Amino acid sequence: DIYFNFQFQVQSTPVKRLCKTHNIITVNGQFPGPTLEARDGDTLIIKVINSARYNVTIHWHGIRQMRTPWADGPEYVTQCPIQPGASYTYRFPIENQDGTLWWHAHSKWLRATVYGALIIYPKIAVPYPFPKPNKEIPILLGEWWNRDIISVLRQAIFTGAAPNISDAYTINGQPGDLYRCSSKETAKFHVKSGETVLLRIINAALNQELFFTIANHMLTVVGNDAVYNKPFSTRVLMLGPGQTTNVLLTANQPAAHYYMAARAYNTAQNAAFDNTTTTAILAYDSVPCPTKNNGTSSSSSKPLLPPLPRFNDTNTVTAYTSQLRSLQSNGLKVPTQIDENLFFAVGLGIINCAPGPRCQGPNNTRFAASMNNVSFVLPRRTSLLQAYYQNIQGVYTLDFPAVPRVAFDYTGNVSRALWQPRFGTKLYKLKYGSNVQIVLQDTAIVTTEDHPVHLHGYHFYVVGQGFGNFNPNRDTARFNLVDPPVRNTINVPVGGWAVIRFVADNPGVWLMHCHIDSHLTGGFAMAFLVENGPGKLQSVVAPPPDLPPC
Ligand code: C2O
Repeated sequence: DIYFNFQFQVQSTPVKRLCKTHNIITVNGQFPGPTLEARDGDTLIIKVINSARYNVTIHWHGIRQMRTPWADGPEYVTQCPIQPGASYTYRFPIENQDGTLWWHAHSKWLRATVYGALIIYPKIAVPYPFPKPNKEIPILLGEWWNRDIISVLRQAIFTGAAPNISDAYTINGQPGDLYRCSSKETAKFHVKSGETVLLRIINAALNQELFFTIANHMLTVVGNDAVYNKPFSTRVLMLGPGQTTNVLLTANQPAAHYYMAARAYNTAQNAAFDNTTTTAILAYDSVPCPTKNNGTSSSSSKPLLPPLPRFNDTNTVTAYTSQLRSLQSNGLKVPTQIDENLFFAVGLGIINCAPGPRCQGPNNTRFAASMNNVSFVLPRRTSLLQAYYQNIQGVYTLDFPAVPRVAFDYTGNVSRALWQPRFGTKLYKLKYGSNVQIVLQDTAIVTTEDHPVHLHGYHFYVVGQGFGNFNPNRDTARFNLVDPPVRNTINVPVGGWAVIRFVADNPGVWLMHCHIDSHLTGGFAMAFLVENGPGKLQSVVAPPPDLPPC
């Protein structure tokens, strides 16, 4: 067994973007944070030292954490946060996973700047299921705020209005040439003519689904969320926050500089969003670099800007997603007999409030979000996993509804009575080893919207998706049980549904939530409790001794 030790020092670091310098929270002073590289089968040991003034935790997004639930990271779910001055060592093996994942803070909105790539190579002597690329490039898409991110969050929480939008998108931490004072630092990736490169693309943005494309180049999609797929080519990708996509690109165009670009896919009606475009440069090496002194491209060598779909172009997204098929070599075992048939109506919501500074939503309301009309509230005294393990009463209830309390026309006209979720810290208990199906149904509560829903501790099969209300009689017959995509984050189509299946084979408490952080904060979350037999989680995994105290 190979063990890799890393040290993450969480700290405040001055960073300049868009002509302004302010302190952001980083890991080891780097933004984006360090790239972790490991192999399938390795054990990672990461000591996180909190030298910042905020509580923090780190989540290893997409790592299954088989029987290592204490290393998962979401604050108040599997651990209490690491307080300023304290440390915690995350220790977990990587088992039967390879591809592109990432890590990020899972505390407040700190992941806006606390994130990095987590690259897992196949076991030694196991080749990729495609020709070996000449090089590999991680590409992290992000968002940038000129304001301190905690104050952006406070504004959202304390006024109850929809949160502020970002000031820029970024590629590997840089906004790129189309923004003010950014061109000197624009990310640049060098390729040689004829080379094939593997781009490991990660959407690390806080609140925005993103289109991504590269001028004049076709992208061959080979993997998503660290699972291989049957290769297909496309000009444009769409990634929800949390998702990763591996693509092969062959440098088969005339030697020049080409822009890669990302901007919003935004489906919420009447919602403000950041409509800017971030760019980076794909530079063929035979092209002389622009003068080093000013670093800006001369007009003669200005890269080509690729066309991107309109911000609400759902047709392009559907055409793209419908091509995703798993490789059989992934060892697919799609559950066919279902033990737990769940239906989660998901979306936004509003909460009535008394007029005042904390009630800035329309018509005396506050912004909220929900699953099955429950707006999830994190506990404060302890984490859910500790409460379960130590049998602490009154922290959560086990009555998360398996189906909505009332069935309604989810994507049609939703009555106002259903716009107001109830607060709760509700878990749903799954029997160990049960076959689970969840219909994730978008709603028109406040607005229909495409939501990237992430499940901790599991990968799941996406057996179907479509628009309108899910209709079991019609839609079940069309499920793909042969080669469905396998993911950890699924974009539930705007005004539509997605159906996922998995086997509950990983004991622990596992959060499921919208990976748009404003929706997570609004309560778009729930958690599964998976026991290893009745009351048996204790016998399997004890918490590590340095688990942060609450
Ligand atoms: Cu990447 Cu709970 O998140």
